[in-house]
Amino acid sequence: MLISGSGSNMVALAQSMTGDHPARPCVVIANNPDAKGLERAAAMGIPTACVDHRPFAGDRAAFEAALQQTLADHSPDILCLAGFMRILTEGFVTPWAGRMLNIHPSLLPKYKGLNTHARAIEAGDPEAGCTVHEVTAALDDGPILGQARVAIEPGDTPDTLAARILPMEHQLYPTVLRRYAAGNRSPVMLNG
Ligand code: GRF
Repeated sequence: MLISGSGSNMVALAQSMTGDHPARPCVVIANNPDAKGLERAAAMGIPTACVDHRPFAGDRAAFEAALQQTLADHSPDILCLAGFMRILTEGFVTPWAGRMLNIHPSLLPKYKGLNTHARAIEAGDPEAGCTVHEVTAALDDGPILGQARVAIEPGDTPDTLAARILPMEHQLYPTVLRRYAAGNRSPVMLNG
């Protein structure tokens, strides 16, 4: 799993991979040495690594080569982006085609990119949510594997909305991963 920050989705995924779940976490890699998720993964006994993107100063290919090498050291079967905030090029994504997932905090295809909750509120949408999708070269695109919908309430701010959606992410992502790891690609639809 790749993270950049708190790693709450990583924790939810790791906690779900027990018993007869077909997958187990094998490594958590952050692009940021201060990512709180690294400590949380270590506390759960999961191997961790950091490939800091800053020394590569914009040389995206070199950063991605370092990331691929660190991943190869652990040879995961499936790669889950969980709050990973770097854009990955086609060169990185292609070898992972069909084995790479991401969670995005909007009801894709709406609101690709950043500030998703603010944009949904601004647009006066009746609902918002999150999407788990297969990662392809196009940003926040790719086949949708699951969505959770949450009503936008009058007076919602991006923070109050995020506070209702994040727990749904922690329910959706593990549900999708369990099915995906068992070879089931049929979309999961949850309602908050
Ligand atoms: C979440 O909103 C997630 O949808 C987005 O990054 C945010 C933080 O995720 N990808 P996490 O707590 O680091 O898992």
